[in-house]
Amino acid sequence: MKKIIFATGNAGKMKEIREILSDLPMEILSMKEAGIRSEAEENGMTFEENAIIKAKAVAADPLCRDQDIVVLADDSGLEIDYLNGEPGVYSARYMGEDTSYRIKNANLIERLDGVPKEQRTARFVCVIAAVLPGGKVLTAKGTIEGKIGYEERGENGFGYDPIFCLPDMSRTTAELSAEEKNAISHRGKALAKMKELLKEEIHTVG
Ligand code: IMP
Repeated sequence: MKKIIFATGNAGKMKEIREILSDLPMEILSMKEAGIRSEAEENGMTFEENAIIKAKAVAADPLCRDQDIVVLADDSGLEIDYLNGEPGVYSARYMGEDTSYRIKNANLIERLDGVPKEQRTARFVCVIAAVLPGGKVLTAKGTIEGKIGYEERGENGFGYDPIFCLPDMSRTTAELSAEEKNAISHRGKALAKMKELLKEEIHTVG
């Protein structure tokens, strides 16, 4: 296991991944750097299924076969308890992929109109899947608990961050610096767990 290819085209995610995995004795490449294009259809019902679909699609590329490569992929989203877990695995596609987050966020706030603070609980979830050289699959999950706010707040982050408040509702994740968010985020936690799983594999497989 000498190289990691991360199945994402998102530069922000790659930066975070490189920082967190930097102490693994492996070269970390984006799909683009590895010369791989993949548009796997995310038709799974869970974050786990979608992360595995994405990782397997890249691992099947001829450039990955017969090489000492680990393919990683993530799938993430927002679960709102009052809405029975919506938007969940449809977070990116909620109200249409091309709809702005200003509109998506306003819609979710509207759907929670009149819902008291205690019932506005939500979480961001991230699952990272790894496909190892022999085809073995590992997954690691991370979550961050919070509450849906009453209006958008903050300019940092992306997506649903301006309406996702920390549990005490003092700040949204769009009001945290990148370092502050990475330290507590669903993706940061899932990556940290995956790093430990990969270390164990390196230890046993070499
Ligand atoms: P994907 O994992 O790249 O498919 O992203 C899923 C979707 O979940 C994103 O497009 C966002 O809508 C949402 N999402 C995932 N993580 C975050 C986050 O950290 N902040 C805000 N929105 C997020």
